[in-house]
Amino acid sequence: MADTNTPIPRNTKPVPGGTFVLVEFDDGIAWVSMNRPEKRNAISPALAFEMIEVLDALEIDDRCGVIVLTGSGESWSAGMDLKEYFRATDKLSYDERMRVYRANGTWQWKMLRNYAKPTIAMVNGWCFGGAFTPMIACDLAIAADEATFGLSEINWGIIPAGVVTKAVADVIRQRDALYYIMTGEPFDGKRAAEIGLVNQSVPAAQLRERTAVLARQLLSKNPFVLRQAKLAYHVSRDMPWEQAAEYLTAKADQTRALDPEKGQDKGMAQFIDEKSYRPGLGEYSRNK
Ligand code: COA
Repeated sequence: MADTNTPIPRNTKPVPGGTFVLVEFDDGIAWVSMNRPEKRNAISPALAFEMIEVLDALEIDDRCGVIVLTGSGESWSAGMDLKEYFRATDKLSYDERMRVYRANGTWQWKMLRNYAKPTIAMVNGWCFGGAFTPMIACDLAIAADEATFGLSEINWGIIPAGVVTKAVADVIRQRDALYYIMTGEPFDGKRAAEIGLVNQSVPAAQLRERTAVLARQLLSKNPFVLRQAKLAYHVSRDMPWEQAAEYLTAKADQTRALDPEKGQDKGMAQFIDEKSYRPGLGEYSRNK
């Protein structure tokens, strides 16, 4: 009997976007830019809907092994668009407003947090309010020393909603979280690194190269195992120990069974049989 399944497309060309979201491929890295530089890349509903399409396409695009999420021009993102995302949606029906909120939550954390490929937020400039959510939802983050972060909501008479407060509580300590939530005081990239909001901050002139080095490091790893490792981190984090042990054992078995590269078997053989690799003395090479 003929196979009537419709094939799931790969390598969709061209990548969607091109208006509020730009994509540039460079040797396995997809540089994805929020692109409303004249509005400091404030996140509008149109940007959210476009970003969903872009992220969906890149997940099955072989030109993309790692995503770097950044902003066009001098900004990462000035947060939610106060005019288009808030004031304009006030006039909508509840159902229409929730549809817009859902689109935003979809890309900002539902997709990014569990994305199939590694993600790095490269914070090149302003990063305010609602922009914290996708920044935190990326696996890793590198900032420019000169970037400016701010939970400015308190100064607008609003709380850091969406899931900003939840995202912040996930990555930084209570004292720092409440300090910045309650004062709205801006801070730079160095401070963001100090409090653990980003992995590292470097001078702006070195930002792209530092990020590319990190991206290449991730590209050199076994992609299937990377995906499983980050998923296991998120899922096991809030589990009791007994359940986490069970889950992680099962996840490890699943990883071994489904890994197309059979990384575990190869790594073991390199250490035990061939004596060509010692984990403490360098990185395992997938290509040996
Ligand atoms: N929502 C909507 N529009 C925004 C915006 C936002 N979050 N952030 C910036 N813009 C718009 C400005 O209204 C301005 O539009 P206009 O040219 O039509 O007047 C344009 O982007 C440039 O902004 P401007 O303030 O002139 O740029 P700047 O370089 O002097 O300052 C910021 C940059 C980011 C410091 C400043 O724009 C700002 O404070 N933005 C709000 C940040 C914020 O609190 N975000 C939290 C939202 S939850």
